[in-house]
Amino acid sequence: MNEHAHPLSVSERADELEEEKMHEMERILTKSTIAHLMDGEVKMDTSPEMRAKHPGKFFLMGDDPRLPPMPEEPTLVDYFRRRFASTAHLLQSATHALKGGQPEKVVLACLLHDIAIVSFIRCDHGYWGAQMIEPYVEEEVAWAVKSHQALRFFPDESVGYGYPDLYKELFGPDYRPEPYIVEEYKRARAHKWYMTSRLICLNDIYSFDPNAKVDLDDFVDIIGRNFRQPKEGLGLDNSPSAHMWRTILWPTRFL
Ligand SMILES: [Fe+2]
Ligand SMILES: [Fe+2]
Repeated sequence: MNEHAHPLSVSERADELEEEKMHEMERILTKSTIAHLMDGEVKMDTSPEMRAKHPGKFFLMGDDPRLPPMPEEPTLVDYFRRRFASTAHLLQSATHALKGGQPEKVVLACLLHDIAIVSFIRCDHGYWGAQMIEPYVEEEVAWAVKSHQALRFFPDESVGYGYPDLYKELFGPDYRPEPYIVEEYKRARAHKWYMTSRLICLNDIYSFDPNAKVDLDDFVDIIGRNFRQPKEGLGLDNSPSAHMWRTILWPTRFL
Protein backbone atom coordinates (compact mmCIF):
# COMPACT_ATOMS: atom_id res chain seq x y z
CA MET A 1 0.00 0.00 0.00
CA ASN A 2 1.17 3.52 -0.74
CA GLU A 3 2.22 5.91 1.96
CA HIS A 4 0.17 9.05 1.76
CA ALA A 5 0.85 12.36 3.37
CA HIS A 6 -2.88 12.88 3.92
CA PRO A 7 -5.62 10.39 4.74
CA LEU A 8 -7.30 8.89 1.67
CA SER A 9 -10.80 9.98 0.81
CA VAL A 10 -13.40 7.28 0.44
CA SER A 11 -13.27 7.51 -3.34
CA GLU A 12 -9.44 7.46 -3.39
CA ARG A 13 -9.49 4.36 -1.21
CA ALA A 14 -12.09 2.78 -3.51
CA ASP A 15 -9.86 3.54 -6.52
CA GLU A 16 -6.89 2.05 -4.74
CA LEU A 17 -8.79 -1.14 -3.85
CA GLU A 18 -9.99 -1.43 -7.44
CA GLU A 19 -6.41 -1.00 -8.60
CA GLU A 20 -5.17 -3.70 -6.22
CA LYS A 21 -7.89 -6.08 -7.38
CA MET A 22 -6.98 -5.39 -11.01
CA HIS A 23 -3.40 -6.39 -10.41
CA GLU A 24 -4.57 -9.79 -9.24
CA MET A 25 -6.55 -10.35 -12.42
CA GLU A 26 -5.48 -12.04 -15.58
CA ARG A 27 -6.87 -9.35 -17.85
CA ILE A 28 -6.95 -5.58 -17.91
CA LEU A 29 -10.40 -4.23 -17.16
CA THR A 30 -11.41 -0.86 -18.53
CA LYS A 31 -14.20 1.51 -17.68
CA SER A 32 -16.24 3.19 -20.38
CA THR A 33 -16.08 6.94 -20.61
CA ILE A 34 -19.67 7.18 -19.39
CA ALA A 35 -18.59 5.54 -16.11
CA HIS A 36 -15.95 8.25 -15.66
CA LEU A 37 -18.45 10.96 -16.60
CA MET A 38 -20.71 9.55 -13.88
CA ASP A 39 -17.80 10.00 -11.47
CA GLY A 40 -17.67 13.65 -12.49
CA GLU A 41 -14.57 13.27 -14.63
CA VAL A 42 -14.13 13.89 -18.35
CA LYS A 43 -11.52 11.28 -19.02
CA MET A 44 -11.03 7.87 -20.59
CA ASP A 45 -9.01 4.70 -20.13
CA THR A 46 -6.47 4.73 -22.95
CA SER A 47 -4.65 1.59 -24.05
CA PRO A 48 -1.04 2.93 -23.72
CA GLU A 49 -1.73 4.15 -20.20
CA MET A 50 -3.51 0.95 -19.14
CA ARG A 51 -0.82 -1.31 -20.64
CA ALA A 52 1.89 0.65 -18.88
CA LYS A 53 0.08 0.06 -15.58
CA HIS A 54 -0.41 -3.67 -16.27
CA PRO A 55 2.62 -4.84 -18.23
CA GLY A 56 2.33 -8.19 -20.03
CA LYS A 57 -1.44 -8.41 -19.67
CA PHE A 58 -4.14 -8.42 -22.31
CA PHE A 59 -7.37 -6.48 -22.24
CA LEU A 60 -10.55 -8.21 -21.17
CA MET A 61 -12.71 -9.06 -24.17
CA GLY A 62 -15.40 -11.15 -22.52
CA ASP A 63 -16.87 -12.07 -19.15
CA ASP A 64 -15.92 -9.89 -16.19
CA PRO A 65 -14.84 -12.39 -13.52
CA ARG A 66 -16.16 -10.10 -10.76
CA LEU A 67 -19.75 -10.47 -11.97
CA PRO A 68 -22.09 -13.44 -11.61
CA PRO A 69 -21.52 -15.80 -14.54
CA MET A 70 -24.22 -15.84 -17.18
CA PRO A 71 -25.31 -18.91 -19.18
CA GLU A 72 -24.21 -19.36 -22.80
CA GLU A 73 -27.65 -18.42 -24.06
CA PRO A 74 -28.97 -15.96 -21.48
CA THR A 75 -32.68 -15.29 -21.10
CA LEU A 76 -34.49 -12.28 -19.73
CA VAL A 77 -34.94 -14.23 -16.49
CA ASP A 78 -31.16 -14.73 -16.27
CA TYR A 79 -30.67 -10.98 -16.56
CA PHE A 80 -33.26 -10.49 -13.80
CA ARG A 81 -31.41 -12.88 -11.53
CA ARG A 82 -27.77 -12.05 -12.32
CA ARG A 83 -27.58 -8.53 -13.66
CA PHE A 84 -30.49 -6.50 -12.29
CA ALA A 85 -29.28 -4.84 -9.09
CA SER A 86 -32.77 -4.75 -7.59
CA THR A 87 -36.02 -6.33 -8.67
CA ALA A 88 -38.34 -5.63 -5.72
CA HIS A 89 -39.88 -2.50 -7.25
CA LEU A 90 -40.49 -4.17 -10.61
CA LEU A 91 -41.99 -7.27 -9.00
CA GLN A 92 -44.21 -5.22 -6.71
CA SER A 93 -45.48 -3.11 -9.61
CA ALA A 94 -46.18 -6.20 -11.72
CA THR A 95 -47.83 -7.99 -8.78
CA HIS A 96 -50.04 -4.97 -8.17
CA ALA A 97 -51.08 -4.95 -11.84
CA LEU A 98 -51.71 -8.70 -11.83
CA LYS A 99 -53.88 -8.51 -8.70
CA GLY A 100 -55.73 -5.60 -10.25
CA GLY A 101 -56.76 -7.87 -13.11
CA GLN A 102 -54.75 -6.08 -15.77
CA PRO A 103 -54.04 -7.87 -19.07
CA GLU A 104 -50.69 -9.58 -19.48
CA LYS A 105 -49.28 -6.83 -21.69
CA VAL A 106 -49.81 -4.31 -18.86
CA VAL A 107 -48.35 -6.71 -16.29
CA LEU A 108 -45.31 -7.16 -18.54
CA ALA A 109 -44.97 -3.40 -19.04
CA CYS A 110 -44.99 -2.94 -15.24
CA LEU A 111 -42.47 -5.74 -14.79
CA LEU A 112 -40.09 -4.12 -17.28
CA HIS A 113 -40.78 -0.40 -16.86
CA ASP A 114 -37.62 0.44 -14.88
CA ILE A 115 -35.19 -2.21 -16.16
CA ALA A 116 -32.89 0.53 -17.45
CA ILE A 117 -32.53 1.90 -13.91
CA VAL A 118 -31.77 -1.45 -12.30
CA SER A 119 -29.33 -2.63 -14.96
CA PHE A 120 -28.02 0.19 -17.07
CA ILE A 121 -28.60 3.92 -16.90
CA ARG A 122 -30.86 6.18 -14.84
CA CYS A 123 -31.00 9.29 -17.01
CA ASP A 124 -33.91 8.98 -19.48
CA HIS A 125 -34.51 5.45 -18.22
CA GLY A 126 -37.89 5.14 -19.93
CA TYR A 127 -36.33 5.68 -23.35
CA TRP A 128 -33.45 3.30 -22.72
CA GLY A 129 -35.74 0.62 -21.29
CA ALA A 130 -38.13 0.87 -24.23
CA GLN A 131 -35.31 0.46 -26.73
CA MET A 132 -33.93 -2.53 -24.86
CA ILE A 133 -37.22 -4.42 -25.09
CA GLU A 134 -38.66 -3.09 -28.35
CA PRO A 135 -37.58 -6.00 -30.59
CA TYR A 136 -38.99 -8.59 -28.19
CA VAL A 137 -42.38 -7.29 -27.05
CA GLU A 138 -45.60 -5.90 -28.51
CA GLU A 139 -45.06 -2.37 -29.79
CA GLU A 140 -47.62 -1.11 -27.28
CA VAL A 141 -45.57 -2.44 -24.34
CA ALA A 142 -42.38 -0.69 -25.47
CA TRP A 143 -44.33 2.50 -26.18
CA ALA A 144 -45.84 2.41 -22.69
CA VAL A 145 -42.41 1.98 -21.07
CA LYS A 146 -41.00 4.89 -23.09
CA SER A 147 -43.92 7.17 -22.28
CA HIS A 148 -44.00 6.55 -18.52
CA GLN A 149 -40.79 8.63 -18.53
CA ALA A 150 -42.96 11.71 -19.07
CA LEU A 151 -46.40 10.70 -17.82
CA ARG A 152 -45.26 10.01 -14.25
CA PHE A 153 -44.66 13.76 -13.76
CA PHE A 154 -48.18 14.75 -14.78
CA PRO A 155 -51.33 14.03 -12.79
CA ASP A 156 -54.50 12.59 -14.25
CA GLU A 157 -57.16 12.99 -11.59
CA SER A 158 -59.72 11.19 -13.79
CA VAL A 159 -57.92 7.93 -13.05
CA GLY A 160 -56.73 8.87 -9.55
CA TYR A 161 -53.11 9.62 -10.39
CA GLY A 162 -51.60 12.61 -8.61
CA TYR A 163 -48.09 14.00 -8.76
CA PRO A 164 -46.11 11.61 -6.53
CA ASP A 165 -45.35 12.94 -3.05
CA LEU A 166 -42.06 11.09 -3.28
CA TYR A 167 -40.95 13.32 -6.17
CA LYS A 168 -41.43 16.38 -3.97
CA GLU A 169 -39.17 14.72 -1.42
CA LEU A 170 -36.64 13.56 -3.98
CA PHE A 171 -36.42 16.54 -6.31
CA GLY A 172 -37.70 19.40 -4.15
CA PRO A 173 -41.04 21.21 -4.37
CA ASP A 174 -39.86 23.50 -7.18
CA TYR A 175 -38.74 20.84 -9.63
CA ARG A 176 -40.39 21.16 -13.05
CA PRO A 177 -39.81 18.68 -15.89
CA GLU A 178 -37.70 19.90 -18.80
CA PRO A 179 -39.45 21.10 -21.99
CA TYR A 180 -38.72 17.86 -23.88
CA ILE A 181 -40.58 15.93 -21.17
CA VAL A 182 -43.51 18.34 -21.33
CA GLU A 183 -43.68 17.83 -25.11
CA GLU A 184 -43.45 14.06 -24.68
CA TYR A 185 -46.30 14.23 -22.17
CA LYS A 186 -48.50 16.11 -24.63
CA ARG A 187 -47.84 13.56 -27.37
CA ALA A 188 -48.45 10.65 -25.00
CA ARG A 189 -51.64 12.20 -23.63
CA ALA A 190 -53.12 12.30 -27.13
CA HIS A 191 -51.94 8.80 -28.11
CA LYS A 192 -54.23 5.81 -28.57
CA TRP A 193 -52.16 3.80 -26.06
CA TYR A 194 -52.12 6.55 -23.43
CA MET A 195 -53.90 4.44 -20.81
CA THR A 196 -51.45 1.54 -21.13
CA SER A 197 -48.62 3.83 -20.12
CA ARG A 198 -50.74 5.55 -17.48
CA LEU A 199 -51.36 2.10 -15.97
CA ILE A 200 -47.60 1.81 -15.42
CA CYS A 201 -47.79 5.03 -13.36
CA LEU A 202 -50.83 3.77 -11.46
CA ASN A 203 -49.02 0.55 -10.56
CA ASP A 204 -45.68 2.28 -9.90
CA ILE A 205 -45.51 1.59 -6.20
CA TYR A 206 -43.08 3.85 -4.43
CA SER A 207 -43.57 2.70 -0.88
CA PHE A 208 -42.39 -0.85 -0.62
CA ASP A 209 -44.41 -3.13 1.54
CA PRO A 210 -41.77 -5.18 3.36
CA ASN A 211 -44.32 -7.93 3.96
CA ALA A 212 -45.45 -8.23 0.37
CA LYS A 213 -44.43 -11.53 -1.11
CA VAL A 214 -43.09 -11.08 -4.60
CA ASP A 215 -41.39 -13.69 -6.68
CA LEU A 216 -40.04 -13.65 -10.20
CA ASP A 217 -41.28 -17.23 -10.59
CA ASP A 218 -44.84 -15.85 -10.63
CA PHE A 219 -44.01 -14.05 -13.88
CA VAL A 220 -41.99 -16.62 -15.77
CA ASP A 221 -45.04 -17.84 -17.73
CA ILE A 222 -46.15 -14.29 -18.57
CA ILE A 223 -42.63 -13.53 -19.78
CA GLY A 224 -42.68 -16.77 -21.80
CA ARG A 225 -45.92 -15.81 -23.54
CA ASN A 226 -45.13 -12.13 -24.09
CA PHE A 227 -41.37 -11.71 -24.47
CA ARG A 228 -39.82 -13.20 -27.62
CA GLN A 229 -36.70 -14.73 -26.16
CA PRO A 230 -34.14 -15.10 -28.99
CA LYS A 231 -32.86 -18.66 -29.31
CA GLU A 232 -29.22 -17.46 -29.55
CA GLY A 233 -29.53 -15.81 -26.14
CA LEU A 234 -30.66 -12.28 -25.28
CA GLY A 235 -27.89 -10.01 -26.55
CA LEU A 236 -26.33 -12.67 -28.76
CA ASP A 237 -29.01 -12.28 -31.42
CA ASN A 238 -28.95 -9.63 -34.10
CA SER A 239 -31.86 -7.47 -32.97
CA PRO A 240 -31.52 -3.66 -33.07
CA SER A 241 -31.01 -3.60 -29.29
CA ALA A 242 -28.90 -6.76 -28.82
CA HIS A 243 -25.80 -4.61 -28.27
CA MET A 244 -27.44 -2.99 -25.24
CA TRP A 245 -27.96 -6.39 -23.62
CA ARG A 246 -24.38 -7.39 -24.55
CA THR A 247 -23.12 -4.27 -22.81
CA ILE A 248 -24.89 -5.39 -19.64
CA LEU A 249 -23.50 -8.89 -20.20
CA TRP A 250 -19.90 -7.65 -20.69
CA PRO A 251 -19.77 -4.11 -19.28
CA THR A 252 -15.97 -3.99 -19.10
CA ARG A 253 -15.19 -5.40 -22.54
CA PHE A 254 -12.44 -3.28 -24.08
CA LEU A 255 -14.14 -2.92 -27.47
FE1 LIG B 1 -39.69 4.74 -14.03
FE1 LIG C 1 -41.02 2.66 -11.26
